[in-house]
Amino acid sequence: MIDKIKSLLDEISNLTAANLDEVEALRIKYLSKKGEITSLMNDFRNVPAEQKREVGQLINQLKDKAQEKINTLKEVLESQNLGSVEEDLTRTAYPIALGTRHPLSIVKNEICDIFARLGFTIAEGPEIEDDWHVFSSLNFAEDHPARDMQDTFFIQRSPDVLLRTHTSSVQTRVMEKTQPPIRIICPGRVYRNEAISYRAHCFFHQVEALYVDKNVSFADLKQALLYFAKEMFGTETKIRLRPSYFPFTEPSAEMDISCNLCGGKGCPFCKHTGWVEILGCGMVDPNVLEACGIDSKEYTGYALGMGIERITNLKYQVKDLRMFSENDVRFLRQFESAY
Ligand code: DAH
Repeated sequence: MIDKIKSLLDEISNLTAANLDEVEALRIKYLSKKGEITSLMNDFRNVPAEQKREVGQLINQLKDKAQEKINTLKEVLESQNLGSVEEDLTRTAYPIALGTRHPLSIVKNEICDIFARLGFTIAEGPEIEDDWHVFSSLNFAEDHPARDMQDTFFIQRSPDVLLRTHTSSVQTRVMEKTQPPIRIICPGRVYRNEAISYRAHCFFHQVEALYVDKNVSFADLKQALLYFAKEMFGTETKIRLRPSYFPFTEPSAEMDISCNLCGGKGCPFCKHTGWVEILGCGMVDPNVLEACGIDSKEYTGYALGMGIERITNLKYQVKDLRMFSENDVRFLRQFESAY
């Protein structure tokens, strides 16, 4: 029996096959139910006990060898087959299905890139926050309506744990830890207790920018805003600032851009005014700087904040805000080629 196994081992290491049918014939000859190796295994019970160990090992070796050999013959033939006449390597390739970036991510990246060109770096903060970072440090009065349950999702009361209602909280987180110069851009998700409709959602996205240094002026803010508007919406874009109020900036303003659909002539989108509002901004209130341990006599700063959904609507005319979170691939696929 041992001799038989050894001769089979030799035989197997010299096997050749010209095509896949021959390989299959070899598999049947050696490894199928009625194959030579299988019948050797059946004879195994007749082997004297003192030889069982040696014979057993040899049979296993033989079986592995045969399987390995047949696999190799098959692989070699299959790889040669790639170049055969049936496969035309000059044929046009099938298109690769591209994934799509979410429109909000596309716009967020674009906003961050524009500010990166002005020297801003990205900073992020937690979505679950405390009262200090979202409200108190930002000069919100004790009875400010934004602190109300109606607007804010509370996870816990006293001490308050809440979902941040704006990305301005990241301003505080950075200023607490860093002395100026500070130049950051903070993208992120925010939450408000709003009834969901085509124009409001209980979560949405914002980008906040903050620049604090010596001699930062309102003119610097205006210049950054103009640059941003032209980069984002095209060089023809005009901006205008309207006085406004935010607790954390003084003076505060809201910025409009000339309607990018009608070029400022007036259309239903801009309600025939020629202008659309896109962000809030202002000079950082000295109280905010002081609350974060920055000397307001030495440093000044500007801040601005915008909704990413709003900017995306303007760029892509998405009428219903809910589409951003419905995961409808028919909607999302439309952004396939956008960066
Ligand atoms: N935090 C404001 C909001 O959620 C947006 C904002 C306005 C941010 C003015 C700012 C700013 O930094 O200066 O509506």
